[in-house]
Amino acid sequence: MRERIIAGNWKMNTLPEEGAELAHEVAKAVKDIDNVKIVICPPATHLCHISNAIKGSNVGLGAQNVHWEEKGAFTGEVSTSMLKALGCQWVIIGHSERRQMFGETDEGVNKRLRHIVKSNIRPIVCIGETLEERQAGDTFKVLERQIRIGFEGVEMSGNSGVVIAYEPVWAIGTGLTATPEQAQEAHHFIRELLSEMYGSENAAATVIQYGGSMNEKNADVLMSCEDVDGGLIGGASLKPESFAAIVNASSMI
Ligand code: 13P
Repeated sequence: MRERIIAGNWKMNTLPEEGAELAHEVAKAVKDIDNVKIVICPPATHLCHISNAIKGSNVGLGAQNVHWEEKGAFTGEVSTSMLKALGCQWVIIGHSERRQMFGETDEGVNKRLRHIVKSNIRPIVCIGETLEERQAGDTFKVLERQIRIGFEGVEMSGNSGVVIAYEPVWAIGTGLTATPEQAQEAHHFIRELLSEMYGSENAAATVIQYGGSMNEKNADVLMSCEDVDGGLIGGASLKPESFAAIVNASSMI
């Protein structure tokens, strides 16, 4: 059976002390769950605080972005070894907000991913179509481009730890969730493509999360889809009871 992974992307929210409190609450609420991997991804400024707040718990720590070099003249960037030094085991890359507002490209995702897979840190690679792309019937074309370019030259095996998050851009922060049929169709397409690129065994072992207005009310139906293996949660990850309810729902499927 594939792993199940629920990750909270806090985006640019909370101050460090509040974040530590939130992390503490989350850890308390999910302490008995052992069949779902639980991750929180706070802003980079909070990593040290939160690493301490979740020490000894079953909650893992992730960052929201990382550079593809280890050090050098890259103002404003952080490296995988810096993240690891603070206890991060995970990092999100290619989020649509970074693509749309900060000029990130499939090629940039590829550079990051090539570096991260050698770094003993697990990437969560975000992909997803905009509303215009969906309405134009281009969803699969967009997902295929994002994966083919993003994964170019990346070796992947069943235990490489790469996670993909399918996040339809039109569902992010809008309260509009993909229907289970839409999610399953996209996830199935992604898995078929991975199968063509990496073989069916590797594709079958790869975790594909859904993201986009996932909450405690819709988590169980989305998680019941055959190819949905987890969630990347934005807004609802800022409320410990909602995030814990999503984790709980996922643990029961
Ligand atoms: P929301 O859950 O707020 O829609 O955000 C999803 C997301 O972007 C997670 O990365």
